[in-house]
Amino acid sequence: MLKKLTLSALTALTLSAGGAYAAGAEGHIEDFDFSFEGPFGTYDQHQLQRGLQIFTEVCSACHGLKFVPFRSMSEEGGLGYSEDEVRAYAAQNFEVFDRELDDFRPARPADKFPANTGVGAPDLSLMAKARAGFHGPYGLGINQFLHGIGGPEYIASILTGYTGETMEQAGTTLYENHAFPGGWISMAPPLAGEDVEYADGHSNELHHEAQDVAAFLMWTAEPKMMARKQAGFTAVLFLVILSVLLYLTNKRIWKPVKKKAKSA
Ligand code: HEC
Repeated sequence: MLKKLTLSALTALTLSAGGAYAAGAEGHIEDFDFSFEGPFGTYDQHQLQRGLQIFTEVCSACHGLKFVPFRSMSEEGGLGYSEDEVRAYAAQNFEVFDRELDDFRPARPADKFPANTGVGAPDLSLMAKARAGFHGPYGLGINQFLHGIGGPEYIASILTGYTGETMEQAGTTLYENHAFPGGWISMAPPLAGEDVEYADGHSNELHHEAQDVAAFLMWTAEPKMMARKQAGFTAVLFLVILSVLLYLTNKRIWKPVKKKAKSA
């Protein structure tokens, strides 16, 4: 009885502490549902394509993706585009600096998305892995066992977390955002909803757009996630079969000894 009581008291304490943590300087992260969550989750290729569209039409004005080669979008586990489509996309949308030409030229599939440091915005290639949406309780990260690290949730929450309040600080405008640690971010709200017209006719409400681009940025940060999960699954299956075989082998090896012990 006592044990039960202390346990539930502890749980209550932990939960409330987790709540307090989330409400503090950490910012509030909404737990969006993504198709790639869990051990069997996979990327939704249509969503990745929509996210690419948002990145191209909106985010790339300020942010780069300097670690992401264009051709990865036509590779296995990519966005499902053909090589020709990627070639056309790169040439139409981006220019890169060519050292040999000593000039800018249209991007090719072998190039990476250009860096963009114009307004001091961070590169987004690895952002989904560089940020954690879930911490607590006590910063132990126990929530991450349940919800994942929460990088894409963090990004989507930032994009939907603006309150509309602004303030001036040392000549910079800061925008109140309840997902950003500290509550004030220098990025003006990049999305308002209905910013792009999706080719697949999907809803372009703000939270859909935010989720789509967050999914795309998860892909840029971990393009081989599906291969990794598959390898893990194969490994576990292999270990299960191996365990069964070892158990049976063990029984067989010890059988004569056990028999002798019984008859003695
Ligand atoms: C007008 C320029 C501009 C556009 C457009 C823009 N950003 Fe930003 N972004 C910034 C700046 C500047 C920062 C740095 C903000 C700071 O640290 O206060 C930033 C920061 C970020 C961060 C990092 C927050 C952190 O934890 O450090 C993320 C994520 C982000 N932007 C995502 C996006 C996405 C996704 C889009 C497209 C939908 C986008 N941004 C469009 C200027 C922009």
